[in-house]
Amino acid sequence: MKDRVYITRKLPEETISGLKEHYHVEMWDKEDIPVPAEVLREKAKEASALLTMLSDSIDGDLLAEAHRLKVVANLAVGYDNIDVKAAAEKGITVANTPDVLTDTTADLTFALLMAAARRITESAEYVKEGKWKSWSPLLLAGQDIHHKTIGIVGMGNIGQAVAKRAKGFDMNILYHNRSRRPEAEEKLGAVYASFEELCEQSDYVVCLAPLNESTKNLFTEEAFRRMKNSAIFINAGRGAIVDEDALYRALLDGEISGAGLDVFVKEPIGKDHPLLSLSNVVALPHIGSSSTETRMEMARLCAENINLVLSGKQAKTPVHI
Ligand code: GLV
Ligand code: GLV
Repeated sequence: MKDRVYITRKLPEETISGLKEHYHVEMWDKEDIPVPAEVLREKAKEASALLTMLSDSIDGDLLAEAHRLKVVANLAVGYDNIDVKAAAEKGITVANTPDVLTDTTADLTFALLMAAARRITESAEYVKEGKWKSWSPLLLAGQDIHHKTIGIVGMGNIGQAVAKRAKGFDMNILYHNRSRRPEAEEKLGAVYASFEELCEQSDYVVCLAPLNESTKNLFTEEAFRRMKNSAIFINAGRGAIVDEDALYRALLDGEISGAGLDVFVKEPIGKDHPLLSLSNVVALPHIGSSSTETRMEMARLCAENINLVLSGKQAKTPVHI
């Protein structure tokens, strides 16, 4: 009997044709509606491999019933949607998609920083709504990016790629990470700072950390209070690293001056989300790695990881816990 592979969202045919040659491949066929949890759980019982999205919860209960499952290939670098410990206990490989999305995600993160700093979305709406009546000296004045201080929390590959972009803008670079990154210090002139120092000294605080027990709710009311009143907070990591109520209050009370957010505690957010009522917030629908080229690469890498594990080899990019 052929191994069964279940794919939880519609993917371009060419990225999975290799899987179809060897396995019985089934795919949730809607592009914009996630597979219901009950359906995924049923499919997981029979599957040898799952190709999952970051919005699918692969928890202990699902894994406990997934007796044939050998690999979960997540179409993301983050894997906080998967109980990796429960998977490891069952000998199930979890694989993610690092590296292929690094530059694309860094581009988006920097675009978000620039959009928030120079009020790009607000200004674009202003023109489209016919509000532009005259040129004036301080019309939609934002703040400078060049020669300012960026503080990057989470100096993995993406953090370092953002630092490289910041260097091109003559920014001073601070970073905070679980472990020091000598390569970023030597090549990019990044300076290690404690989390508190980074919050206090940065003009742009950029969160690119993974979500785990030590980063959950890292950005509290106190962290925002430490920041400069002119600081802009950028989050392209995970929503739950931030206390969203505290962020909302900090923006409302002028503790910080703006935010650019690609991720939220509970996604997707609707138009009634409190953060959307603030003109100094730029919000995006979790599109960090979303260029056509990169999303194709990510899908191909997931397929490759599945192929490798089901043919008895090591995944190319397994998650290590
Ligand atoms: C996106 O957020 C990812 O983890 O790849
Ligand atoms: C992984 O650590 C990344 O930031 O790409």
